[in-house]
This record gives sequence, C-alpha cells and structure tokens, in this order.
Amino acid sequence: MNNEWVKDYCLDEDESVHKAFYYLNKFRNHKIIIVTDTGGKAVGILTPGDFNEEHVGDIGGMSRYGVYAPEPLSHRCYDGVTVGEVCNRSFKFIRENEDKYSAGRNIFADAGIKILDIPVLDTNGAPVDIFARWQAFYREYLATRRLSRMSYVEPIYQAALLARKKGYDTISVIEFGVAGGTGLVLADLYARETERLTGVRIQVYGFDLGSGLPATDKAEDLLIAYKQGDYVMDESALRRQLRGAKLVLGDIRETAKDFFAKYAPAPIGAMFIDVDLYESTAAVLDMLLEPDDWYLPIVYMWFDDLAVGSDFSGEWLAIKEFNAKSLNSKITPEDMFSGRSDDCGFLMAGDLSVGATQQKRNVRYSHPKWATAKAGNSICELRI
Ligand SMILES: C[S@@+](CC[C@H](N)C(=O)[O-])C[C@H]1O[C@@H](n2cnc3c(N)ncnc32)[C@H](O)[C@@H]1O
Repeated sequence: MNNEWVKDYCLDEDESVHKAFYYLNKFRNHKIIIVTDTGGKAVGILTPGDFNEEHVGDIGGMSRYGVYAPEPLSHRCYDGVTVGEVCNRSFKFIRENEDKYSAGRNIFADAGIKILDIPVLDTNGAPVDIFARWQAFYREYLATRRLSRMSYVEPIYQAALLARKKGYDTISVIEFGVAGGTGLVLADLYARETERLTGVRIQVYGFDLGSGLPATDKAEDLLIAYKQGDYVMDESALRRQLRGAKLVLGDIRETAKDFFAKYAPAPIGAMFIDVDLYESTAAVLDMLLEPDDWYLPIVYMWFDDLAVGSDFSGEWLAIKEFNAKSLNSKITPEDMFSGRSDDCGFLMAGDLSVGATQQKRNVRYSHPKWATAKAGNSICELRI
C-alpha cells in the first residue's frame, strides 16, 4: 500500500515553526507534524496542543483538538524558531510490526484527548504511517456520527454489511467528481477501516476529468451555479495521498462507457455523486443500466448537489429521467422537498436538513440476490 503520503506530514528539524503552523492548518485527516532528522528518522512530533497557547491563542483558528477553521495565524512569537526546538521529543509511537489497534488504543486511553494521532515507525525509526484516534475507535466514532463526511462513512458501511449478508467478499465504492480529492482520500481511509470491521474487501475508484468542470452550454447544467474549469485537480499531490484508491481520469461521458470492461470492478455497493452538472450526472446514472452482476442488490447513493436546481435541472432531472427509462431498477426516494433551493440558489421554505434528503438508494428489483427466498433474506435489518 502507498505510504508516500506520510512524507507530507514530516518536517526536517531545521524547518521553521511557521511552516508547521501552516501544515497543521492545511491538514484534514491528521493533526500532527512528525519532526525528522537528516537521516529521515523521527525525533519528535508537533500537534496543536504542543504550541504555547499563551502566545499563539488557538493556533490560527484550529483548536488544539484538531477542529479546522481557516482564520489568520497569530504565531509571530515563533519567528526564527525551528520545529526541532519546540517539538515534543518524548512522544509515543507505534512500531510498524505491532498491532496498531491494540498498541494505539492503549496510548490513546492513557493520553485522554491530548493525543489524536500517533506516528508509526519502521525498524530504523522512519515514519511509515500515522494512526488516528478515530481509526482506533472507528466503530464508536461511526455509531456516534463523529467522523467527518458521515455522508461517505455510512454508505460504505451499509454496503459492506449488505455485501456480507449477501455473500460477497469484495465490493467497489465510487466517487464521481474528485477535484482536489478531499472526499476520495476520506473514502479510501474509511474503506480500509470498514474492511477491518466487516471482513469485506473494498475497492475504491474516483472518476474525474482532472481539468475541472467541462464546458457546457445546457441550461439544465445549472450554468448559474457552475462554470468551466472550476475544481481543477492537482493530480500528483492527490496520488500521493491515496492509499489504495484508483483514479479513472477522463470525461465521465466516455470513461463510464468502458469502465466495466477496462477495470472489471467488484460489484458496486456505494456511489458518491458530485459532478455538479446534469449531463455528467446522467452519464453516471446510465451506468446503473448495466447488468445486475456489476452491483449489489441495493446501491447506497449520495448526491451532493440536490440543494440546487429544480425538477428540470441538475441532479433532480437526471434522477427523474433515469427512473423513467429504467425498468428494473429505480433510484429512491425520487423526490424529497426539504432544504431544496430554486434554480437561482434561494433556499425554499421547509426543513433545512438537506443531508437526509441527499441519501438515496438504487434498488435493483431484477437482481438475483434481491429477493430469492423469504427466510433469512431480509435486507432491512442492517444495523450499525
Ligand atoms: C465539486 S467537484 C468535486 C468535489 C469532490 N467530490 C470533493 O469532495 O472535494 C466536481 C468535479 O466534477 C468533475 N466533473 C464534472 N463533470 C465531469 C465529467 N463529465 N467528466 C469528468 N469529471 C467531471 C469536475 O472535474 C470536478 O472536479
């Protein structure tokens, strides 16, 4: 598995503390800097809690417990100071060959909330992984909905539970519309933890053009909200961050057509749809017309952009058209009103909990594992 990404969390001991501030603000998945010597060996760590709070306040809007808020930094008192000077040199770490979960849980339990991330070191003391509190206690974080992007966590978990119940050993989950990769990196991480909990292996794919939104002049594409070139991907930076996920680059209107032949993915159990445009969404949904073998009997779906558009534009139109033309599988619920805006982005009256309405399912009535026998065949009992 790729661990190049760990280097993004490392700073040489001669680097400035200002750079460490910047890094800690920028990072999403772990809030730690591993300080290394010239030989690449870990000699210390820096976490938000290691800074002198009297001087730096809440570290640029990031509370010491890792909550990110993009405010200006206030750390001038560290001018000219190196990370080597201020880092915590008596830090806890896990050895690469140890069981991360038992070693990590012990450290987290003793440290209380003070430690959120633990470096994992190889036999030479070089960092090879970072183990987070949320990973150590994943089931609990999941059940109490404390992970970021629960909209990705839950469909992946539900898909894995369904797969296990229906006798699949491997499934796929896909994000359509990757951009900078925040969502794909998380899906990749969550897939690894879900594999561990359920025993079901999970392939992760991310579809994107790479160069931002494609050109379009269709009114249904919500031109009022999006423009060509929005969300360009930094491909090499993203590839470094991916543990096992595969990028499928190109226009989805093309890549969707030969995806199955080219990649032979395991049956798809979850789809995260965030391509903004009607036409791109329609191309994604057309993939659901492919044979049932490529899917679980239920595909858990998340639509990112249901809060914009009307019944005749964007994702809503694509869903309605899909349901009209697909005989054996439907996207449900087709319509829910709460939290939707009109085509100009004004929120319509009603319940504002958009999140709940963004989750949908593709129910595949013709699937051989949909309803083969009454006894023991319930798919409604999935519990976290
Ligand atoms: C809002 S961004 C995705 C953000 C991402 N899901 C995240 O979590 O950060 C929308 C992405 O959809 C991609 N996209 C839209 N239409 C596409 C198409 N036809 N083919 C490939 N990518 C497309 C764009 O390249 C853009 O990166």
